[in-house]
Order: sequence, then C-alpha cells, then structure tokens
Amino acid sequence: IKHLRSAADLDAETATLILDTAAEMATLAGREVKKLPTLRGRTVVNLFYEDSTRTRISFEAAAKRLSADVINFSAKGSSVSKGESLKDTALTLQAMGADAVVIRHPASGAPHRLASWVDGSVVNAGDGTHEHPTQALLDAYTMRSRLGRLDGLRVAIVGDVLHSRVARSNVLLLSTLGAQVTLVGPPTLIPIDVAAGLSGDASRRGDRLVPGEAAGGPSAPAGSAGGDEPRAVSPAAIAGLSGDASRRGDRLVPGGVAGAAGGGPAVSYDLDSVLPDSDVVMMLRVQSERMQDSYFPSAREYSRRYGLDMRRLRRLPEHAIVMHPGPMNRGMEIAPEVADSPRSTIVEQVANGVSARMAVLYLLLGGK
Ligand code: CP
Repeated sequence: IKHLRSAADLDAETATLILDTAAEMATLAGREVKKLPTLRGRTVVNLFYEDSTRTRISFEAAAKRLSADVINFSAKGSSVSKGESLKDTALTLQAMGADAVVIRHPASGAPHRLASWVDGSVVNAGDGTHEHPTQALLDAYTMRSRLGRLDGLRVAIVGDVLHSRVARSNVLLLSTLGAQVTLVGPPTLIPIDVAAGLSGDASRRGDRLVPGEAAGGPSAPAGSAGGDEPRAVSPAAIAGLSGDASRRGDRLVPGGVAGAAGGGPAVSYDLDSVLPDSDVVMMLRVQSERMQDSYFPSAREYSRRYGLDMRRLRRLPEHAIVMHPGPMNRGMEIAPEVADSPRSTIVEQVANGVSARMAVLYLLLGGK
C-alpha cells in the first residue's frame, strides 16, 4: 500500500506483516540496535494541526531510528495562522522533498484530501473523530504480544466511542484480524456507524470519498463543498454509510450484549456484565472538548457506571489486560490504581507505538 489513511486500507495479510515487522523492530531495539540505515536519504514530515504527545514524538523517534530526515511542522507558529490552506502547506512541504507526510488534523477526512495533493505517502496520525490507524496497530501489537493471538480475542472498548477515532480504527482492524469487539458505553456515546461495524464495502472508505472524482484519486470527503480546506464531516459520511446501512437499534439489547450480526461489533450498556467475558478491556478517554452536542451524564455518574475501578478490575479473568490509548482522565474513565496496576499495558502501548510506527514507515517507504 502507498498510504495509511484508514485501518480499512489494511487487509489481514498486510496488517499481520506490519505487526510482524514491528516485532522485528522491537527485537532489534532489545538487542541495543538503536538505529537502522534503512530510510537514509528519505524525508518524513510530521504535519500536526492538533496537539499530540505520544503520536508526534513516537513518529519522530520511529523515523529517526530508521535514519530518515525528519521535519516537524506544527500549525501553531506557522503560516497557517495567516490563513494558509492545508493544500498550500502540503505543496510547500512537498517542495522540500517529503517522501512521507504524517498528518494529524481536526477535520475528519483531511488525510484523504492530502493524499490527492502530494506525491509521497500519507499516514493518518488522527483525523477529527474519524480514525487513528497507527494507534489501532500498536494496540493490536500490544494485545498479540501480551496474549499471544488476536483471532477470537474478546475485546471490550469502553466509554466515549462517539468521539473516538481510536475506537473506529480498532473496530476495523480488530475485526479484520478476527477479534470479537464489544462496544460498551452510554447509548448517547455509541454512534450508529461504529455500532454497525463499518463493515464490508462501507468500510473501504478510501475509495468512496470523492464524489465526482476519477477512481483512485480520493479528494473531498463526502459531503464536502469542495475547496482546499477540509472541513469536519461526520465519520459516517466519510464511510459513505446511509441511514439504513447504519441502523443499530435492531441489534441492541439494552443492558446486555447484542449479537454481532453482520460482522459488526456487539454493543452493551452494561460494563459489569461484559467484564467477566473479556480478554482485553480498552478504556477510552472522555473527550470533554468534543462533548458540546452530546448528552453526557455528570462526571460522577459516568464514573460510577462506566469507570474502571479496582472492584471492576477484579471481575476480569485473571489473564485479561487493561488498555488506554492516552491521554487519560485519571479518576474519570479509569481509577489511578487501575492505570498503574500490573494488568495495565498503558506504558507498554507507548513503547510499542515506536515499533509499530517504524514498521509502517519502513513498509510504506520500501525500506531496505
Ligand atoms: N493516543 C494518542 O493519540 O495520544 P496523543 O494525542 O498524545 O498523540
């Protein structure tokens, strides 16, 4: 593949190749091989329009460990503040010889738009509430290295699914790799397109973004009025899902777990009932900054119903692990003692992020 815009860009074979390559990268790092010459002479641009700690730093570390030249671009302090468009910014960076552009942007669909403007590879480092495919890869890598497999693994993704690009990419990737996903949260925070599983053709969104443009050349996200600046559109619009395709009401059993008919994830509103049957529980950050249009119970009520505390941790099978993509709201979706417990893989996920991103850059740029 040339780009990684969505977890839907990956079939099982390609995803497994990335995970295997990440494992090799981690093995080399464990043997004190800190730097590989493989991307010498190549340039990776980190183009960040939104704040980031883990993703930005780990992409930088990954590119440097592969000996690439790295240009870090942050919208803050750049000519973006003078009104420069994403397209003009991208063309400027291309003129400086970017072989790959890693982009984080608040508008869902921005990486798809960017891929039509630049010659190099585009890697989505998080676009709006849409996707975060390298987070899903590092999460899958962490699950596989801790539990030995992904096929048949029972993964509960808990909390603010509505605003979570991490959840969307995980649903896609984990389903591709044979895991069984259950989404858990308040009904107002579980969106219809994710509950519908983004399955089948509807998830091949890279091909479906551009009404009116020649095949193979994604440009404007569906629903976009055009122009050079991507604007936020709903992830459902990007996926090309119609209302009918994303019906979820039929498949829900309030208070319990619905069957994952049609290959989509199961949905439950009852965390306590899901925990005993989970191998992995992935807690999501409550995204207060994106909560304007959503009903949200009080922080205390949310924590009481959906927070992972020590009492709930004890309901998990002994082998089960606790994940969180970070940053965390300690005391809201996860208790501090759970985040710091031996069952937690949160710090390990960060370390694995470097290996996973090394693998992505290596494979996209045809490293030797
Ligand atoms: N998980 C994640 O994307 O974290 P950052 O926002 O710090 O990059």
